Amino acid sequence: MADEKKTEGEIKSSASIPAEEKGSAPEAGGAKPPAAAKGVAAPKKPGEGLLGGAPKRGMEEEGEAGGAQEAAEPISRRRFLSWLTLGWVAFAGALGAFATGMLRFMFPNVLFEPPMTFKAEPPSQYPVDTVNTDLTNKYKVWIVHNEDGIFALRAVCTHLGCTPRWLESEGKFKCPCHGSGFYMNGINFEGPAPRPLERYRISVGEDGRILVDMSRRYAFEKGEWVDPNSIIKL
Ligand code: FES
Repeated sequence: MADEKKTEGEIKSSASIPAEEKGSAPEAGGAKPPAAAKGVAAPKKPGEGLLGGAPKRGMEEEGEAGGAQEAAEPISRRRFLSWLTLGWVAFAGALGAFATGMLRFMFPNVLFEPPMTFKAEPPSQYPVDTVNTDLTNKYKVWIVHNEDGIFALRAVCTHLGCTPRWLESEGKFKCPCHGSGFYMNGINFEGPAPRPLERYRISVGEDGRILVDMSRRYAFEKGEWVDPNSIIKL
């Protein structure tokens, strides 16, 4: 009996000791493993990451991705607006260039030159044996009246195109460039000028004024001074 009591006492005493302190027999029904009792992390079971730690990490990654997307979204919108603005600027530039081209097409470059025909004074205003230089600066022409009649002499040297001067005292035209000289009628007599001065078409208009047409020239060496349109016979 004593053995039986002792055995019961031992059993009681052993039952009063917490199982954790004993660290020996595992509790029935799936008690913690010894390693857990010692504070060591228990090894993860296969597949535990999918249900335990991994989902948490996935959520963190999703959160990070969401934040990155939120951060990238304004940049993309900003870039889109920049490209849109650039496109509009390019479109406006092309439209402006097109409009300019159309305007230039509608208003082409026009070279405004002095008219080829002009009116001078009536023949009575040009006395015999005179050279009128009133129109020389504007039209490069002299109105000459000699014994043959009134003609319009072109004030361009036949050497290299300088403008000769009328020397009243010497009764001649003198070119300042290389010294060519021309008589009052335009015939060359000194210097390098190879031929006489030219004359313009001349006539008397309905209003009685002399009309000079610079689009038609008459050259002495071509025998054109005999043309009635090259001189007004009085
Ligand atoms: S340009 Fe008149 S002489 Fe040469």
